[in-house]
Amino acid sequence: MEHVLVCYATRYGSTGDIARIIADELRAAGYRVTLSPVSDAIDPGDFDAVVIGSPLYMGKWLAEAREFVSRFRNSLKSRPVAVFSAGFTLRERTSNHLTAVDEALGSSVKLFISPISTGYFAGKLDPDHMSSADRAIVTLTGAIPGDFIEPDEIKKWARELSALLSGG
Ligand SMILES: Cc1cc2nc3c(=O)[nH]c(=O)nc-3n(C[C@H](O)[C@H](O)[C@H](O)COP(=O)(O)O)c2cc1C
Repeated sequence: MEHVLVCYATRYGSTGDIARIIADELRAAGYRVTLSPVSDAIDPGDFDAVVIGSPLYMGKWLAEAREFVSRFRNSLKSRPVAVFSAGFTLRERTSNHLTAVDEALGSSVKLFISPISTGYFAGKLDPDHMSSADRAIVTLTGAIPGDFIEPDEIKKWARELSALLSGG
């Protein structure tokens, strides 16, 4: 059975929630799945395929996710890798928003790897559980708080990914 690593960076947990939905869907499709935060202790070289996710903060992936890709680029290059991003702008997957994410990934993650699939998902904004600095930024940008995670969108992407991984 193919062993897939689903790993993620997160500041407040919602990207982990998205990663868990992806992991569950891949398991339902018959894959053995390890779900883990990005960390030096996880070696993508131990897996047949890898999914990496990060939330967007100020237009970029979190540093630990970018560093994970850079550090493990050799093993990531030699196996299928899919990436996904979470962010409040992705509530509306307009071409402007997707292009902004693609540009951010193009100047970081995609310098090192060529993902077989890229997911774009709305996340969660909960100012009550944020640092005061982050809360101030949310207030300044006028972003609307809420849980915008769309499990059906995420499951659909995971099913398409599963088909790609199995050569379908
Ligand atoms: C300070 C701050 C900056 C953010 N910047 C962006 C951004 O540039 N683009 C975006 O789409 N979402 C942005 N977001 C929304 C987060 O990506 C979203 O809330 C995500 O679900 C958080 O993931 P986490 O709970 O895993 O940390 C920002 C949120 C905060 C608090």
